[in-house]
Amino acid sequence: MLKPSIPPPTEQQIQEICRIINETLGFKYTSQKKYLIENRLNKHLLQLGLDNYQAYLTLLQQNPLERDILCELLTTNVTYFFREQAQFEYLAKTLLPTLAHEKKERDKIRCWSAGCSSGEEAYSIAITCREVLGTKWDIKVLATDISTKHLYIGRKGIFPAETGKSVPNKWRLKYFRSCEAGNQYFQVRPELRRDVIFRLANLLDVNSLPSNIRVDFIFCRNVFIYLSNEARAQALDHFYQRLNNGGHLFLGHSETINTVQDQRWVPLGKSIYRKR
Ligand SMILES: C[S@@+](CC[C@H](N)C(=O)[O-])C[C@H]1O[C@@H](n2cnc3c(N)ncnc32)[C@H](O)[C@@H]1O
Repeated sequence: MLKPSIPPPTEQQIQEICRIINETLGFKYTSQKKYLIENRLNKHLLQLGLDNYQAYLTLLQQNPLERDILCELLTTNVTYFFREQAQFEYLAKTLLPTLAHEKKERDKIRCWSAGCSSGEEAYSIAITCREVLGTKWDIKVLATDISTKHLYIGRKGIFPAETGKSVPNKWRLKYFRSCEAGNQYFQVRPELRRDVIFRLANLLDVNSLPSNIRVDFIFCRNVFIYLSNEARAQALDHFYQRLNNGGHLFLGHSETINTVQDQRWVPLGKSIYRKR
């Protein structure tokens, strides 16, 4: 039987799809993303019972939920535990000991993993905090993303066994357990799951989080690469507001802040910045 096929979108249709995603997420997609768009959306159109892109654009205008699904389908969610090891070393050896010195034991440590995908980054932060500070501290990692599907995986804390390879051996048994879903999976232990709070939030929308949230440090890694200059500036304003004095911002290893233009940030190397 012939596979149903969808005629390729026109240049104008591609531009309209890019406009929606750029407006919603602050991305800088152009029609050069035609291949990615077709690759990720054709199957979705078929599932919706649509046979052309014009019908899909009409649906996008009528149904805001479809816009959210479009954003989910066109973002990249690649992530893994303890990604960019050097930054976790800085967290463990420099930042957390300093915070522990400034605060008192049993005090609060608050952090934010912005663009957390399925939560591997947030759990890696929580493990590092527990290893350095022990069990007495009140530690909370806020993990936010626009993908409900990935937030759901994060909340459940169930990951394919393959993913566990980047978790150091000594922590695998301590923080994870085998999983009822079968031995191809493993699950974060409930004690660690309690340290991480998953929430749907667009990092460009200050109002998508309660106004009183303040944190000691933010990880926003491998998100800026997709953002336009305006959206990066907007996100930096948002982070600046949310960070406590002297708070730290961790970006992805290829992402930087122009600290000549934006003097609110002190560069510390390894794509780590301190709020001035
Ligand atoms: C490549 S993943 C990075 C995950 C993790 N931070 C890491 O470095 O491993 C990028 C994530 O950012 C999310 N994202 C993209 N734009 C966003 C926005 N405007 N607000 C919130 N999350 C966003 C995507 O849904 C995706 O899960």
